[in-house]
Amino acid sequence: MTKFRTLDDLSDLTGKVALVRVDLNLPMQDGAVTDDTRVRAAAPTILELSAKGAKVLLLAHFGRPKGERVSTMSVSMTLDAVQAVLGKEVMFVPEIAGPVLAQSIGILQPGDIALLENTRFWKGEEANDPEFAKAIAANADIYVNDAFSAAHRAHATTEGLAHLLPAYAGRSMEAELKALDKALGTPVKPVAAVVGGAKVSSKLDVLTHLVTQVDHLIIGGGMANTFLAARGVNVGKSLCEHDLAPTAEKIMETAEQSGCIVHLPYDVVVAKEFAANPPSLRTCNVHEVAADEMILDVGPQAVEALADVLKTCRTLVWNGPLGAFETEPFDMATVALAKSAAALTSEGALVSVAGGGDTVAALAHAGVTEQFSYISTAGGAFLEWMEGKELPGVKALEI
Ligand code: 3PG
Repeated sequence: MTKFRTLDDLSDLTGKVALVRVDLNLPMQDGAVTDDTRVRAAAPTILELSAKGAKVLLLAHFGRPKGERVSTMSVSMTLDAVQAVLGKEVMFVPEIAGPVLAQSIGILQPGDIALLENTRFWKGEEANDPEFAKAIAANADIYVNDAFSAAHRAHATTEGLAHLLPAYAGRSMEAELKALDKALGTPVKPVAAVVGGAKVSSKLDVLTHLVTQVDHLIIGGGMANTFLAARGVNVGKSLCEHDLAPTAEKIMETAEQSGCIVHLPYDVVVAKEFAANPPSLRTCNVHEVAADEMILDVGPQAVEALADVLKTCRTLVWNGPLGAFETEPFDMATVALAKSAAALTSEGALVSVAGGGDTVAALAHAGVTEQFSYISTAGGAFLEWMEGKELPGVKALEI
């Protein structure tokens, strides 16, 4: 596992300036934050540095403004949510370097917190321009990265700064890296992976990497149809990437060579139209899907068999729902298997780590968020990690 400095390596920071990269790329509706999970994830780091007497400067991006000041993408839109979670007043500074920032730092008292403007308002951020990074670092004593979910970006504030200042992993980054190491780095075997979601094409690298790493690969969601079709199953009018049949076959071959068992559903929930509780809803064997039906969830017998597979495993990594979980009753397989995994985790029989995109919403819907060993707040970064890629923001923290 990557070795990195943590906040444990810091003692008194009275008056020192700490640049803290956090992820405030938060979902918003009508100008208000709808989910503050990422703020809550970063709060322990921010509060700990503040308690140690540092002047804490928060660096974050919001949206993709492409190097321009776009008022609708000002990080100030997250200020209320940040203050509410921290329970402290936070000063907003509309710059990230230069005299305005230097002046603001002069006003801050030890322990005070400031939120700096969207790092992506400057072209130097995404270009990882060393001069830009130097201008930001000029005002600070240390750099703390607590944004695992942005660590797949080699940007000035996620990567560059780590080379210019003494660099530390924040508490959330630390927890994330430890959990991920337990899941795929040095896991207790046997290891199972659940990969769901609509398209094989969006998770090709994930699947290709996982079959060489895990003992059981459970494939669900629309992508299972592509694998079933490659095996000669008629999937009717299901979502299916027929042109990827050779790719699916290759993945299954690699799995076989690596001793990984690929699990595809043998019973499925189908309907003629995609709507909540449609009249045409039925459960059938995968070989009985009619030409005018589509597969929308894994069937109950398969879910039971998959729960038995999990009972033989010690580690589980989960990405993506098994069915069209946002529409009832196509959430049943996801909910049932998530509950089995949660129960095994609570008994201490399984380490369960999940993350990426829809996964957090699916597991929250199943009501298992608290029981899983770890649920990552990352989307793209979690997927890149599942692809076996080195994340530049993590690599830069290595000592
Ligand atoms: C995320 O929301 O997953 C991260 O903040 C990364 O955002 P990005 O995909 O715009 O780089």
